Amino acid sequence: MTIEIKNSEDIEKMRIVGALAAKQLEMIEAHIKPGISTGELDRICHDYTVNVQNAIPAPLNYRGFPKSICTSVNHVVCHGIPSDDKILKNGDIVNVDVTLIKDGYHGDTSKTFTVGKCGVLAERLAATCKETLYKGIAQVKPGNHLGDIGHATQVHAEKNRFSVVKEYCGHGIGKVFHDEPQILHYGKKGTGAEMLPGMIFTIEPMINAGKAAVKLLPDEWTVVTKDHKLTAQWEHTILVTETGYEILTFREDDTIARST
Ligand code: MF3
Ligand code: CO
Ligand code: CO
Repeated sequence: MTIEIKNSEDIEKMRIVGALAAKQLEMIEAHIKPGISTGELDRICHDYTVNVQNAIPAPLNYRGFPKSICTSVNHVVCHGIPSDDKILKNGDIVNVDVTLIKDGYHGDTSKTFTVGKCGVLAERLAATCKETLYKGIAQVKPGNHLGDIGHATQVHAEKNRFSVVKEYCGHGIGKVFHDEPQILHYGKKGTGAEMLPGMIFTIEPMINAGKAAVKLLPDEWTVVTKDHKLTAQWEHTILVTETGYEILTFREDDTIARST
């Protein structure tokens, strides 16, 4: 296994596309209200990507994925396909996952939005998922191991009595959408590859209110919890720096330091 070390030109381009992806999530937030369909969210993001950001929506036609973003509502874990028939209602939670390509480089980020007024469990699950991502990010520095990220995310989720999805993971990213290494959201301290400055990967924990088990729907994209209980996901694209980390997809509503 080889993990690419980005040079300064790669890093500058990853900062640019990361900022565009972050901006897109900030843009879509105002549209997430009861009554809008996930198909409409997809069209808004698609048009913004292509016409305003002069970028490419990476999911569109990626391995046959039919839309420009993923929208995963309530018990949908990830890779939900936007549809005009899926109308958001008060109390739903929806993960919007955007990946942009600009100048050949990918920026990948997602967050779970609450729709209208949510119940306490949905609020707590979404908030804990964000904290879980931040616990993983806090482990990113040269000399630490990839397993330190998975350990930190698993401990935090399980301490809050949520379970970690094991089948899907974070990934190296750059000119390639899904590259090595895999970033597991569970594991043991000190295992896996050592982090080195110039590595760029995503951390994207999916945590479930019920059991960890998931299943794939017949559309071969939509992943749901087997028990149909709620699930949430949060994702950032992260650069390993000489001193720690830099969040390339940082937004104004993030509540962690952009870099260390
Ligand atoms: N953005 C997702 C990720 O975090 C991947 C989506 S692939 C798609 O890795 F084809 F479903 F869009
Ligand atoms: Co990703
Ligand atoms: Co993503």
